[in-house]
Amino acid sequence: MTIPALRARKSGAKLVCLTAYDAPTGALLDAAGVDVVLVGDSVGNVVLGLDSTLPVTMDDMLHHVRAVARGVRRALLVADMPFMSYQAEPADALRNAGLLIKAGAAAVKLEGGRETEPAVRALVASGIPVMGHLGLTPQRVHEFGGYRAQGKDAAAAHRIWREARLLDRLGVFAVVLECVPGALAGLITRAVGCPTIGIGSGPACDGQILVFHDLVGLSAAPPRFAKAYTRGREAFTEAVSGFARDVQSGAYPDPATAPELPPAEASALAERIRLMPEK
Ligand code: KIV
Repeated sequence: MTIPALRARKSGAKLVCLTAYDAPTGALLDAAGVDVVLVGDSVGNVVLGLDSTLPVTMDDMLHHVRAVARGVRRALLVADMPFMSYQAEPADALRNAGLLIKAGAAAVKLEGGRETEPAVRALVASGIPVMGHLGLTPQRVHEFGGYRAQGKDAAAAHRIWREARLLDRLGVFAVVLECVPGALAGLITRAVGCPTIGIGSGPACDGQILVFHDLVGLSAAPPRFAKAYTRGREAFTEAVSGFARDVQSGAYPDPATAPELPPAEASALAERIRLMPEK
């Protein structure tokens, strides 16, 4: 998947996007035909046991981007820019986005609208493809007073609509719309030239993204909009209990799966042990 191919999907089949944080998951999504694999800063909540994405560092992101890149061959690999890696100066944004690209990402995602204009301009001018992210931008969780839907009155909705148009003009190749009203997502999707990727924003977007752990039912408290397509927690818990049962009962492991000591070597070993002086 290339940036031009992805942009062309504005008027084609819906884009299928998922997060991944490790190589085997990246390879699984790639083989399943997912269009965009995002190494999200949601790695903080989902994998690192943090309460928010705010403590996620560039080192965390680089570690996980390198891992996922080893598994992804075909899908577009996008890396999230973590909190405070792009907000202060465009030069920081350039340096940090450059590191994510060197780690194996093809593009970066950053959160916000008007305030990100200098960073987005610098990245686009340097040939680093940028995905925007508007609506419920989790790096602003404290400002929002929690993980709350955004754009729920006309003024707020109009601001998000204007910011989507601005990002589009600045040259982002796609924009994520998180937890905004479906009607607003539809208006933005029709008003911008780049594809919109929805999460918790209804079906009108040009594509959808979900966190992998929500998709496979591994999240303890998934968001309301997420749909689990399998009961991952139950399946994994059952597997762990099965292992514990078999270890206790001796049913695992099968003795035939251990390496063999040929009979002559077994007798030689017994003889060596017999001849060893007692301590
Ligand atoms: O960090 C993340 O996983 C994200 C997506 C859910 C859009 O930003």
